[in-house]
Amino acid sequence: MLIEMPRHTEIFGSVKIHEMQRVLKIDSGRFANPRAKDIPFEDIKDILRRFAIIVPVKDEKIHLLDGVLRAIPFDCTVIVVSNSKREGPDFYKMERDLVRHLHDLTQQEILIVHQKDPDLGFAFYDAGYDHLLRRDTIVRDGKAEGMIIGMLLAKALGKDYIGFADADNYIPGSVREYVIDYAAGFCMAESPYSMVRLHWRYKPKVVEAKLYFQKWGRVSETTNKYLNLIMSAHTGFETGIVITGNAGEHALTTKLADILSYSTGYSIEPYHFVCLFDRFGLGVKNITDTDAANAGIEIFQIETLNPHIHEEKGKAHINNMLLGSLQTIYHCELCNDYVRSKVLEELGDILEWEEPKKSLIMPPIGELDAPRFMKMLESTAETFARFEQGAIVSEGEDKAYLKEESSHTE
Ligand code: GDD
Ligand code: MG
Repeated sequence: MLIEMPRHTEIFGSVKIHEMQRVLKIDSGRFANPRAKDIPFEDIKDILRRFAIIVPVKDEKIHLLDGVLRAIPFDCTVIVVSNSKREGPDFYKMERDLVRHLHDLTQQEILIVHQKDPDLGFAFYDAGYDHLLRRDTIVRDGKAEGMIIGMLLAKALGKDYIGFADADNYIPGSVREYVIDYAAGFCMAESPYSMVRLHWRYKPKVVEAKLYFQKWGRVSETTNKYLNLIMSAHTGFETGIVITGNAGEHALTTKLADILSYSTGYSIEPYHFVCLFDRFGLGVKNITDTDAANAGIEIFQIETLNPHIHEEKGKAHINNMLLGSLQTIYHCELCNDYVRSKVLEELGDILEWEEPKKSLIMPPIGELDAPRFMKMLESTAETFARFEQGAIVSEGEDKAYLKEESSHTE
């Protein structure tokens, strides 16, 4: 791949945020120049083999999930975490059948589990991590909650890199690019604590029966503005470096995933920045993680070549996401009164000037015994299945489904 070098890097305490980099060629010809870095495909492949891609899914069209799964490069392990409904019709069964069929045809390693499986909730309880559980020890709704499940499975498999791809993407080819872009970011990283966040070149919309190639959405524009304002107000120098505040499409090293805390639902992505600012930002005293602070935390922001076309989920959904993002920003410890007053102004319409609530924060997962967690799922969870690379019959194949299938054929 040929990718622009970042023109500038903002250093905020131990957090290094690189300016946006454009993909110049997905497949390059090994002609580097001072403004661009050439990354050989073998280097990208090395990363892909140590990479798990998590696909969170909730009631999406099966055709979309199918395209996404088929687009993820073979060398990666895919982890599907579903929160889809299970009756009238059973979406999860369709997803699982799709996964099984795809594995039969391709032999790519793929895992799948349902977020509401009681045995999954119990495995979290057993691990002493009840931060994403409801009172009845079932995992809550929420995209972040699904992502944490996936991250623990990736850790259990010993993966060094973890990435995310939404299941509602209409362009499979763009999903392939996202994964390659993540890998390229990791090839450039100097710190073992790094993260790659994607900025879509365009997010096309239909306007007056024509495609309009829009660049910014309202939520991301607002989130970025206030994340930048926190830094500007703190350093006294204005910056616009953050352009990926809401990047659902992102990836991180397992080492970084181990030490971050996570905010619930859709606020997980902006909270990455808030968490890093609070723990490693400029002027933070009592840094607890000196290893990471010494190595520095590196954030890459890569602009994709492909546009992003996904499902439109309505105004209430957008407002909810905006509120979640700004709530986490409002409660950032580095936020001063000025920034808080600006956030309140922004939320005026939605909150009627009430103070935003604190989002629920889930602590780091680094200390959890991930292999034990996965073993428990393999032996107990009805919805869990692991289809290994090159294996015709999967190890964690769920007995209930097999029984169900054999009873149909009897
Ligand atoms: N497992 C699980 N559990 N998955 C979920 C849940 C859940 O409770 N809720 C949603 N998902 C899945 C969706 O099916 C989809 O694949 C993905 O998570 C993203 O959800 P969307 O509802 O499509 O969100 P969006 O497209 O509006 O927002 C996306 O892009 C934003 C901007 O980049 C999300 O990725 C946001 O987190 C992101 O900020
Ligand atoms: Mg979407």
